[in-house]
Amino acid sequence: MSASSSQPSVPVLTIDGPSGSGKGTISAAVATTLGWHLLDSGAIYRAVGYAASMAGVDLSDAAAVTRCAQAARIVFRAARDGGQTRVIVNGFDATDEIRTETCGAAASAIAAIPAVRNALFERQRAFRKAPGLVADGRDMGTVVFSDAPCKVFLTASAEERAKRRYKQLKEKGLSVTLATLLREIEARDERDATRKVAPLKPARDAVVIDTTALSIAEVVARVLAIARAAMPALDG
Ligand code: C5P
Repeated sequence: MSASSSQPSVPVLTIDGPSGSGKGTISAAVATTLGWHLLDSGAIYRAVGYAASMAGVDLSDAAAVTRCAQAARIVFRAARDGGQTRVIVNGFDATDEIRTETCGAAASAIAAIPAVRNALFERQRAFRKAPGLVADGRDMGTVVFSDAPCKVFLTASAEERAKRRYKQLKEKGLSVTLATLLREIEARDERDATRKVAPLKPARDAVVIDTTALSIAEVVARVLAIARAAMPALDG
């Protein structure tokens, strides 16, 4: 795994944590404030899960899923009106499809295959471009950008994360129950934390923030303070 496509001198702020910890919202807000690029690595795993499902590939067939991971064309297209970034998978706009619980479960299943993670390694490193990158995921601080100068790990109780997800899905008009979401979140946490390769855990040098009782604005302020303390050049 060479680092040839990445630029080691460019600063990276990694934001890892379990689903529903607020990573996506916080990472986007911090990237906007800093004027940095954003890598939503979960969207890449979701896009591969989607591509494999669309191709009718059995998700337990490691070799076939790995071929999908290598071949999938995944493009993040910024919305012209400043709205949600579109995720284009093999030419199809899959922005909404990849956010479903089915796609989340598919992503979590294929993410446990070591060859899939290897296939996506350089693709993720290529997002490291000036003036800086906010990288959101599970193993940004431990594996993909282990040399990042600043690492944050967000947590929240499973109940709070299920409630946040419930609210999001209800707002989209989807019919779900809190109990089902809680069960799904716990199952996904268990799979992500116990897999052999790149399990979900804070990097040794990460600052852990429990967001259970914090507002989005409070978490963003804390992450920015941590980033500024770790990278004094940000103030210059
Ligand atoms: O963050 P998000 O919920 O979109 O990620 C979907 C799934 O992709 C996670 O449950 C996890 O299994 C996998 N993933 C991963 N490594 C990352 C990002 C996501 O294994 N860096």
